[in-house]
Amino acid sequence: MLPFPRTSISQLSTGSVLAVALSILFVSRRLWRRSPRTKKISRKGERVVILGASSGIGRALAHQYARRGARVCVTARREDELKRVVSECEELEVNTGAVSQGASVCSVVADFTNVDEMVHLRDVLQHEWNGVDTLIVCAGVSALRPLMEVAGLEREGRSFTPPQASAEGIKHTVDIANRAIAVNYFGPLVSAVTLLPLLQNSSASPSILLISSLAALVPAPTRSLYCSTKAASLLLYQSLSIEHPAVTFTFAIPATVHGDFRASAVDGGPVREVDPNTHGVKPEDVARRCVGAVDAGEKFVFIPYVYSRLGHLLYWLFPGFVERQAGKKYNFKV
Ligand SMILES: NC(=O)c1ccc[n+]([C@@H]2O[C@H](COP(=O)([O-])OP(=O)(O)OC[C@H]3O[C@@H](n4cnc5c(N)ncnc54)[C@H](OP(=O)(O)O)[C@@H]3O)[C@@H](O)[C@H]2O)c1
Repeated sequence: MLPFPRTSISQLSTGSVLAVALSILFVSRRLWRRSPRTKKISRKGERVVILGASSGIGRALAHQYARRGARVCVTARREDELKRVVSECEELEVNTGAVSQGASVCSVVADFTNVDEMVHLRDVLQHEWNGVDTLIVCAGVSALRPLMEVAGLEREGRSFTPPQASAEGIKHTVDIANRAIAVNYFGPLVSAVTLLPLLQNSSASPSILLISSLAALVPAPTRSLYCSTKAASLLLYQSLSIEHPAVTFTFAIPATVHGDFRASAVDGGPVREVDPNTHGVKPEDVARRCVGAVDAGEKFVFIPYVYSRLGHLLYWLFPGFVERQAGKKYNFKV
């Protein structure tokens, strides 16, 4: 008679220990949040550089930081657009009473894949601000075509016309992939190597925000180049965050966002989905959420939370279901 109750008691205690351990983990994660960064760096004292701020999410982030009087440096390749963002920020600073004169916003024209231009940006930050507190890596390009289409193949059911990719078609695909890799992978890489040491040495609370994408975590048809290059930079920065524990990394994972991002497609593909401006998140909402996450030192920011978080979880639990939904979203027939 004795062994049976003994076994069940030991099973019960293992289960209880696990339950208590999980509860402690959950509660301590909530309690053990880093103290707010704003205690170490005042909102007006924060020095923020945004790479890819001439439009979209980067521009909205510049507005958010300007509203609270931070020092903001906006960078991208289009000079006229950057000038427009600077004057918008200066107006916001003055209108919100954050600073008396809009003098704390500057722009530097820089392609973030170009080493010399990024070193020049670093010199400017060092000279003008004696360093930087927040690095935001926002620049990116899209790609919208199925890979075989990029190589010049048309698919009809299971067959292709022509039946094989030509050497030219394969070379063309490599060229297009290199354009996506240059911006979505090498840009973030050059940015980190150029600016991370300055950030770490000059800030009381150094932070990096990477604007990644749900596409880096959940694959989609017509997006093979975009998904894979965004995933590469996300893993690069996740690994860097372990190599540099003194720097707080935040990874933004937005789903579809309003704007004209698809115009940047390196493969010139058509937009097959419903117009992002009818159902996406607004860049201002992405920016607001990201600024709060950087202040709080959050690691992952899913935007909108339920759709992106659930999409990611569902992909692990029921990949076939999510793949079918992605096919419908991008109007892709197998
Ligand atoms: N829109 C979406 O649905 C969506 C969803 C999830 C994630 N995201 C991510 O959000 C980020 C911003 O996208 P967005 O929607 O704001 O699109 P966007 O309006 O096209 O903004 C892209 C920004 O990147 C800059 N950029 C591109 N190539 C650059 C380069 N080589 N050097 C420097 N700057 C460069 C562009 O400026 P210049 O052309 O002036 O250089 C522009 O400021 C991207 O990383 C994207 O992957 C977007």
